[in-house]
Amino acid sequence: AHQWRGIIEEYRDRLPVSAETPVVTLGEGGTPLVSAGVLSELTGCDVHLKVEGANPTGSFKDRGMTMAISKAKEEGAQAVICASTGNTSASAAAYGGKAGMVSAVLVPQGKIAMGKLGQALVHGAKILQVDGNFDDCLVLARNLSENYPVALVNSVNPVRIEGQKTASFEIVDRLGDAPDIHVLPVGNAGNITAYWKGYSEYAADGTATHAPRMWGFQASGAAPIVRGEVVKDPSTIATAIRIGNPASWSLAEAARDESGGFIDEVTDRQILRAYRLLAAREGVFVEPASAASVAGLLKAAEEGKVDKGQRIVCTVTGNGLKDPDWAVAGAPQPVTVPVDAAAAAERLGLA
Ligand code: F0G
Repeated sequence: AHQWRGIIEEYRDRLPVSAETPVVTLGEGGTPLVSAGVLSELTGCDVHLKVEGANPTGSFKDRGMTMAISKAKEEGAQAVICASTGNTSASAAAYGGKAGMVSAVLVPQGKIAMGKLGQALVHGAKILQVDGNFDDCLVLARNLSENYPVALVNSVNPVRIEGQKTASFEIVDRLGDAPDIHVLPVGNAGNITAYWKGYSEYAADGTATHAPRMWGFQASGAAPIVRGEVVKDPSTIATAIRIGNPASWSLAEAARDESGGFIDEVTDRQILRAYRLLAAREGVFVEPASAASVAGLLKAAEEGKVDKGQRIVCTVTGNGLKDPDWAVAGAPQPVTVPVDAAAAAERLGLA
């Protein structure tokens, strides 16, 4: 049987690597494309979920990070740095550690999920909690990379986008053509840029007959692209996309406009509703930010923007285990029973 070799080996001819590039991989990519029965029924469409939480560190960031760390190693870098709402730092820590590099990560104090902080710590990153938000962290990381011997591995590094575009390739390779619509959460706006690049490349060389319309969704309290202005103090329970000044802002607008799509917002309430539906009905446990894509699709359907019969892919970007607080909060506490079958059966409603 064919063993998936990671995105660089699987898509080598479409990535800026050479025979000299030392490939640092954890076998990222090759993630499940799951048919979503309940979402299909609710929308009258053929809906699939691209489950990026199945990547080695639990998010889509690994696709970009295998490229960023491999290229940094090729160029002789000994240290890398990133700003992060959590997932990029977890991925940089893991891949940097594997490559024998120092990974420095800057995260907003108190605003990253515990699982992600734990990953960065256990993978051996040097972590600084910055007294500021993600946007402040990114300014600081850029400054340090310009003035000190450390390579920036945020998605402003173009090889990150190259790696992340492979998710579009996998979807087309699997479905036999591009979907009609692709739906994504939007934070720093690198991923929507990357997907659009991947789809555009496949459409340009005839591997796909067309590229999909790109639909992006920001959290309402952190929706600078929707508002058309920087959000100074972004706020949302979806900490991964708590970003007020996205680095790839204009590229995301280009993806939106060239594809005939749109970028809209979803409230935290809509995000949590989609989060629970995904877990309870589709069997897919994601982190809150990831549910923004599905929340957006459901919002668009309620507004009559979704024509029936279309093929739609929603990317769910990160694993629910990274941030389980929202799974536990608001759920009924499990009851305690004695070691007694009759009592257990009664509590389970079997008797
Ligand atoms: N979903 C998750 C789970 C994320 O971690 C991110 C971004 C996004 C969506 C948005 O993707 O930024 O490319 O538009 N997380 C970054 C980080 C900012 O630091 O981990 P984007």
